[in-house]
Amino acid sequence: MTAADARAAAARIVGRVVRSGAYSNVVSRTETEGMNPSDAGVARGLAYDTLRSLPQIDAEVRQRSSRPIERIDGALLDLLRVGVAELGRRDRPDALTVDAVVRAAKRLDRSYGGFTNGVLRTVARALPDLRPVMPGWLRQELSREFAEPEIDAFWEASMASPELGIRGSGDAGGFEPVAGIEGAHVGRGPIPEGFVIQDPASVAVGLAVDARPDEVVLDMSAAPGGKTGQLVETGAEVVACDVHERRTRSAARRVPGASWVVADGRTPPFPDGTFDAVLLDAPCTGFGTLRRRPEIIHRSGPDDVRRLARLAGELLESALRCLRPGGRLVYSVCTVTPAETVDVVAGHDARPPDLDLPGRALDPGWLLAPHLGPTDGMFIAVIDR
Ligand SMILES: C[S@@+](CC[C@H](N)C(=O)[O-])C[C@H]1O[C@@H](n2cnc3c(N)ncnc32)[C@H](O)[C@@H]1O
Repeated sequence: MTAADARAAAARIVGRVVRSGAYSNVVSRTETEGMNPSDAGVARGLAYDTLRSLPQIDAEVRQRSSRPIERIDGALLDLLRVGVAELGRRDRPDALTVDAVVRAAKRLDRSYGGFTNGVLRTVARALPDLRPVMPGWLRQELSREFAEPEIDAFWEASMASPELGIRGSGDAGGFEPVAGIEGAHVGRGPIPEGFVIQDPASVAVGLAVDARPDEVVLDMSAAPGGKTGQLVETGAEVVACDVHERRTRSAARRVPGASWVVADGRTPPFPDGTFDAVLLDAPCTGFGTLRRRPEIIHRSGPDDVRRLARLAGELLESALRCLRPGGRLVYSVCTVTPAETVDVVAGHDARPPDLDLPGRALDPGWLLAPHLGPTDGMFIAVIDR
């Protein structure tokens, strides 16, 4: 492996995320398979830094390139982006970065070398501030619920590289248990035998359902099935539903212990009052997962927040109808916008889960977040019927 290989892998991750709509936490694993752990770490770190500051980086390439950015070959543009991100770190001699990226560019096409060298050397002469910036509309939306210092703390923690979250029992190797979230661990290195990848915030949602072996539980928007697997392990009978057919089929292969149904949760194929407990882990903007999916900053806007908040509200009404009298509903979203969290459950007598979780209470519900503990951002509220 060479320095050029790691930059090339970083550029491939960026390309797949930017052009194919893939998620960085998924492609950063596949694109670094077979690399030694140190090179893989360099590639992932560079890809993440690039994705966090993509608008500033593209502005820089636009300004420093003799060619319009739209006319630069996609794979070359991704390499330039990675090069600019690495120069912006100011933690390695510029010449080494430029040399590695130029070598990777020449492998794409020998004629790319001079152009790449020219752009990166110009960037290196007047390095820009590439710190990731929270979009103004998001800051404004968060300020309905959070004070400025907390918004800043959330942003800073969301822009850091997280440890890996895993769930399981037994010898967790070098992974540390997360206080208050049974079975959740965080750490680095190979995943220990008997553990699965699952962020502690997501484990907390599964625990909040408190499913028991004699119960029938509905997981209403369940694919890819991370929490479904956790519910099945409790011994409860689990019905898992999702509107997305392909995702549902692959979730069913991954979690065969649940009964999988393709259906729109707003019009579920079950009689009212069927379930002892319902988990509504609703579709959302995902701003709680920015540590692992920084591209969400540039993918989602205020219209998405409004659209998804409306959908979550409709799913919640339907989920409540599925619940038997005396049953409980757990509403969760891996985001932190007030519109998708407290606003959705307002007026439903919601409460935080009966657990000693990291994070803090919201009115109503519970917030886990990277500035409050070693977790993704997640909102959880319980509604008793
Ligand atoms: C946050 S993800 C669920 C993650 C899942 N609970 C897990 O732990 O792996 C939200 C899911 O909602 C599904 N979805 C979106 N609209 C839906 C609808 N109207 N009815 C049911 N599911 C829906 C999406 O396909 C997506 O799989």
